[in-house]
Amino acid sequence: MDTCGPSRRPTVAQRALAERCRAPAGPRPAATSRLDSARYLCPERFARERAALFEALPLLLGPSAMLPAPGTAMTHDGFGADLLLLRDRDGGLGIFRNACRHRGARLVDAPEPVALARIVCPYHAWAYGLDGALVAVPRDETFPGLDRASMGLGRVPHAEAGGLIWAAPFSTADFALSEGALAEDFTALGLDAMHLHARRTHDVAANWKLIMDAFLESYHVQRLHANSIARFFRDGVTAGDMLGPHMRAAVARVGALEDVDLDDWAALRRVLTFTYQLLPAAVLVASPDYVNLLVLMPQAVGRTLVEDFMLIPRPPASADEAAHWARSWALLDGRVFGEEDFAAAEACQRGLATGAVPEILLGALEQGIAQFHAAVDAAIAA
Ligand code: FES
Ligand SMILES: [Fe+2]
Repeated sequence: MDTCGPSRRPTVAQRALAERCRAPAGPRPAATSRLDSARYLCPERFARERAALFEALPLLLGPSAMLPAPGTAMTHDGFGADLLLLRDRDGGLGIFRNACRHRGARLVDAPEPVALARIVCPYHAWAYGLDGALVAVPRDETFPGLDRASMGLGRVPHAEAGGLIWAAPFSTADFALSEGALAEDFTALGLDAMHLHARRTHDVAANWKLIMDAFLESYHVQRLHANSIARFFRDGVTAGDMLGPHMRAAVARVGALEDVDLDDWAALRRVLTFTYQLLPAAVLVASPDYVNLLVLMPQAVGRTLVEDFMLIPRPPASADEAAHWARSWALLDGRVFGEEDFAAAEACQRGLATGAVPEILLGALEQGIAQFHAAVDAAIAA
């Protein structure tokens, strides 16, 4: 199945990672490093991370495909900011506070998209257009001098680029990377034209960084995933680089990487899985013919909601295609993420909480974790 479209090509940076995977530069230095376990357990540390990362950086909410149709609305509460996403009749996206400007009532409850002509408050029926403007006030003669133009819904800075939706509910974050280099990579992967096959929120009893850690090393793939996806991958053949504070990696799958034309995107993706670890807390995994996006939403030092989105090239055209995607979803979301990666993060949270392991030890294949934690530490120190 063509997943990339005829006009899609890997970016220069994606090609460069493929070339590095093809010719790994000799044996890895046997470097190890250590991280203090308190970073996963300490509530004060968690509060500092919230302030320095989640309240300061653009937050990835999900794929554009989660709200594709004009004239629709959905809510997003996972980051502790009650957000209302509105897709207007022209397909433009606005993100607003989900609070009525009259007396503050929550306006909409819609974790899944709903079609709406306008937003009507359930309390006194003030109504807002899909551009957030206040358009109707019942008995408006009882509000003499009301300046409707200044009473639209509170706007939240946001960006939509490369098939992803970003917001900055707590700050005036800079979206330059989201709209620049990241969007270029994700457009190359075809994200902007993909269809949302499924989404599910996992409630994981682990610190958010323990979940990120599972996507920052390939050491575990042949072990933890021995009975699920290990057979698809080579052991620890990867190359990575940085995109600003974000990390990008190519992970070699079983197959003849050496013979692949690097401009043949579909062939390249059959032998390389591209992954992105996006600060503060999202992971994108580009499998050969579909993409999983994981959005981590920390709730407490030891609890994280993880929303998994699976994107496919187009809606299934037959029962066979639907069954194919259902199997992929069950394998990745149910088994690999749910029963393996997230379960491992929960196991580490419990083990570290015993106090028996004051420092964790990272081997040469796990230095991506050290790099990620250095970026987190730098953000806290800034
Ligand atoms: S609180 Fe919304 S109309 Fe009164
Ligand atoms: Fe894994």
